[in-house]
Amino acid sequence: MKIRHLTALAVIAAGAAQAQTARQLDQQTAAMMRASFRDQGIATVERLNQDDAQKACSQAKPPSAAVAKKIETAQLAAVKWPSDGQFIGDWKEGEKLAQNGRGMTWTDASTAAAKNGAMCYNCHQIDKKEISFGTIGPSLWNYGKLRGVADPADPASAAIVKYTWGKLWNSKAYAACSNMPRFGHAELLNEQQIRDVMALLLDPKSPVNQ
Ligand code: HEC
Repeated sequence: MKIRHLTALAVIAAGAAQAQTARQLDQQTAAMMRASFRDQGIATVERLNQDDAQKACSQAKPPSAAVAKKIETAQLAAVKWPSDGQFIGDWKEGEKLAQNGRGMTWTDASTAAAKNGAMCYNCHQIDKKEISFGTIGPSLWNYGKLRGVADPADPASAAIVKYTWGKLWNSKAYAACSNMPRFGHAELLNEQQIRDVMALLLDPKSPVNQ
């Protein structure tokens, strides 16, 4: 066998060894994660199980445009629209939810959505009187106003109202690898709570739109 071929074989063999090592490392990491956590109250190791969308977004490289599109289409198809056609609730309740970071920890007694806050402030600016807020997500200050929503019930606002509901229900419907919790999809908030947060963003009387 010529040297050239030997070199090629060595390269292929090294590549295979490397691929296997990466796979083994993945397995070891998964095992280590499982061994490092335990069930405690309502917080169970079930949370380590990723669905296909989460898996696709947890690789070394982001998913291809085609895979991202597939994820978004599937997540959008899983959005539940309001059962009575009512998208908008009470902004005062929505404001309480947006500023409430409670829920889903091992000290909480229940996983019921009604017991959870929406923790929007952790990632978004909501209004000008907040002393602190997270900046992982874009500011939601004037969310409805900037999008020209004078009356959320007006058919002219229908597209933005629908998009906002879909985004809150399942953020991955519009951004495959979104870091925003899938509030409806993951049952973190119930339908009425989402209506109330919708009002916070879109009701012209809400402090968000002042
Ligand atoms: C863990 C962080 C996080 C939390 C909590 C969170 N979001 Fe987000 N949100 C994001 C990020 C990041 C984006 C931008 C990327 C994207 O589109 O997913 C975003 C995008 C959005 C958008 C789309 C903005 C646009 O201009 O299209 C809306 C609306 C929104 N969030 C509302 C909310 C509301 C309301 C809450 C609380 C119920 C909330 N978010 C909670 C991280 C978060």
